[in-house]
Amino acid sequence: MENNIIIRETVKDDAPEMLTYLGQIGTETDFLTFRFGEELQLSTAKLEQSIESIYNRKNALNLVAKCDGKIIGNLKFSGGTKTRTAHTGEFGITVLKDYGGKGIGTRLLSKFIEWSRDSKLIRKINLRVRTDNEKAIHLYKKFGFVEEGIIKRDFLINEVFYDSIAMGLLID
Ligand SMILES: CC(C)(COP(=O)(O)OP(=O)(O)OC[C@H]1O[C@@H](n2cnc3c(N)ncnc32)[C@H](O)[C@@H]1OP(=O)(O)O)[C@@H](O)C(=O)NCCC(=O)NCCS
Repeated sequence: MENNIIIRETVKDDAPEMLTYLGQIGTETDFLTFRFGEELQLSTAKLEQSIESIYNRKNALNLVAKCDGKIIGNLKFSGGTKTRTAHTGEFGITVLKDYGGKGIGTRLLSKFIEWSRDSKLIRKINLRVRTDNEKAIHLYKKFGFVEEGIIKRDFLINEVFYDSIAMGLLID
């Protein structure tokens, strides 16, 4: 399978399939800030606009992982839109359950960090991860992300609060 996987920047034409992908991801995990349908109301046109905007920004990146032409993973980062926060931003990463544990998340994150270093613009990467998301925390620590603090009650899912860990990676 390894050989059939490519990771590249997401382009406008990916929008229709990305919409389907996000729909599937939204049903597969409770570790994200959105549940597709109820919270994430997206149309192809809106998604196209968002992809185009990120593509044209120097401090934002949207990566897609594809296996035999099918979207199986995604990483989205957006730096601040003001001068004082343009050097930093948060990202989110997802991989389809069926393709998990095969190094796709590692490859997405690796490419993103390489892009951040090459950008000469990004100096700090932030993320928030649910405290019980051990797999994601393991992945982030592998790349040198460190815990910076706990955000209490960050998620409210089916009447249950979940805390998040704020993690960060300095880019020097
Ligand atoms: C988190 C996620 C992106 C990881 O993607 P992936 O392609 O499965 O990741 P990889 O295969 O590259 O790496 C997984 C690592 O976690 C480890 N791992 C797997 N299960 C684990 C667990 N329960 N506890 C700790 N580590 C675990 C693997 O051994 C591997 O580490 P290694 O490279 O040191 O061997 C994916 O599981 C996902 O999309 N989850 C749902 C959405 C999500 O939680 N996103 C992050 C929100 S902050």
